[in-house]
Amino acid sequence: MKKVQLRQSESDYIKLIQITDSHITAQAEGKFDGMDTGLSLDRVLEYICAQTGVADAVLFTGDLVHEPVKPAYEKLLKKLLRLDVPVFCLAGNHDNPDIMRAVLRHKHVSTAKVLECRHWQILMLNSFLPNSHAGRLASDELEFLQSQLMCSMDKHILICLHHPPVSIGSPWMDVMMLENPGEFFAVVDAYTNIRGIIWGHIHQTFLLERNKVLLMASPSTCVQFLPQTEQYVKDDRMPGYRELTLQADGSINTSIRRLDGHNYTKI
Ligand SMILES: [Fe+2]
Repeated sequence: MKKVQLRQSESDYIKLIQITDSHITAQAEGKFDGMDTGLSLDRVLEYICAQTGVADAVLFTGDLVHEPVKPAYEKLLKKLLRLDVPVFCLAGNHDNPDIMRAVLRHKHVSTAKVLECRHWQILMLNSFLPNSHAGRLASDELEFLQSQLMCSMDKHILICLHHPPVSIGSPWMDVMMLENPGEFFAVVDAYTNIRGIIWGHIHQTFLLERNKVLLMASPSTCVQFLPQTEQYVKDDRMPGYRELTLQADGSINTSIRRLDGHNYTKI
């Protein structure tokens, strides 16, 4: 498995941005529940670029496109290339992993699965399950995770995937979570150097500590889903993203930023 070495500034920490669930369409002005997803992503990317000291890398945790066709990924690639940092993408339930991998093969935008930096290793997992909105880590993906963890005991680990491995308290979303969280956590719980797990899919923020591991999800770059609901309810909160600073000692500082700037939360 090819590892990508993340270029890191002189500082001992690494700064990442998680964007997710952009649902880009092949057609111009394509919408998801009334929102122009291309325009919304453009605004989020502009907002990111306007911040000082952007980031060392961007992690894109799935649902890159709404319908998985080549022109949608090509449109997305053009947008992502505006960022002057490497972008690493994994598949969500709206993606097609094969088309995604075939199009996103640029020097700065890729589907690399192992990202290495001085003190950390970041693992990008594929929880895509064909013909389902739920997700599953197939046995070869779990083996990949296990093998990476076994040879990275000297690093702090951040795991990224699309589907939540825990309930988020919204029954309509929970039926679309990871189908085999027990198998996933059986691997995770065997290691003490895993510091964080991030995912997309839920179009809302989520933060929970489990066995000293931070579990985190990010707002979508387009439509938001209202938390803690029986059925789908659109949330009027603005599109956003998550910032993560991975410290040399294994701690994680994280914040959510939204386009309006009014929902800035920090831990
Ligand atoms: Fe999504």
